[in-house]
Amino acid sequence: MRALDSAHAFLLLLTLSVTVSTAWNLPSAAAAALRKHLAPPNQHPMMESYPPNTVLPASTSPTEDVDPKSGHKTGPIVSDVLPKIKGTNIFASLTRDFESIATRLNDSSRNVTVLAPRNSAIQGLPRKPWESPKDYEEFGEVGAYQGSEGEDRARRNLRRFVEAHLIPRSPWRKSEEVETLGGGKLRWEKDGEKIYIHPGGIEVDHIASQVSNGEVWVLNGVVNYQ
Ligand SMILES: *[C@@H]1O[C@H](CO)[C@@H](O)[C@H](O)[C@H]1NC(C)=O
Ligand SMILES: *[C@@H]1O[C@H](CO)[C@@H](O)[C@H](O)[C@H]1NC(C)=O
Repeated sequence: MRALDSAHAFLLLLTLSVTVSTAWNLPSAAAAALRKHLAPPNQHPMMESYPPNTVLPASTSPTEDVDPKSGHKTGPIVSDVLPKIKGTNIFASLTRDFESIATRLNDSSRNVTVLAPRNSAIQGLPRKPWESPKDYEEFGEVGAYQGSEGEDRARRNLRRFVEAHLIPRSPWRKSEEVETLGGGKLRWEKDGEKIYIHPGGIEVDHIASQVSNGEVWVLNGVVNYQ
């Protein structure tokens, strides 16, 4: 009976995670092209990261890993913990779609406060995070995200969305107005036990992680990024 229950729970979880990881994607060819564009193949010469288990060519200098001045991390940092936080994997995966953002979160010498919207908050948006009313106005419903220029627009919008949720500072103190990586200005206040981010009054569900180079806050909404 217990085995059956756990098997059932596992299946349910599997179904849920499949739903979560695919539902926010547009089922169109444009979205497929965009996803491809966002995650270029690893053999790209500019990419500096390698998939696990990749055997690097012998010519790659091993000294990169043992430089004593590189600020070797001693414990987990934001980029380590963000993907493991429950219910925010859409946002976590978006941070990895942009190399400069991924690098910033993987920098143990620069603090950051990540405002990670719940999956449900992103899925509940009236538009996908890469859609902008201005683009539709200018290029039309069909043309807005078609072709390589359309993909560039979508990518720019998506980047703006992610950067609007990154505070290049930690600790971030109450009432302290700071500029996000996207250029917007945010502060937070407390109301009872809850933290709210302003402008917008976005509720912080909880602070999910505190590590050596910053914190991850889980939001029940999204920061205005347009
Ligand atoms: C993260 O930073 C470490 C230390 O600087 C580096 O070795 C590693 O390759 C980086 N990982 C990614 C995915 O950029
Ligand atoms: C970075 O965060 C750590 C951990 O919270 C803190 O001890 C340190 O003072 C912060 N550094 C800066 C420059 O804010």
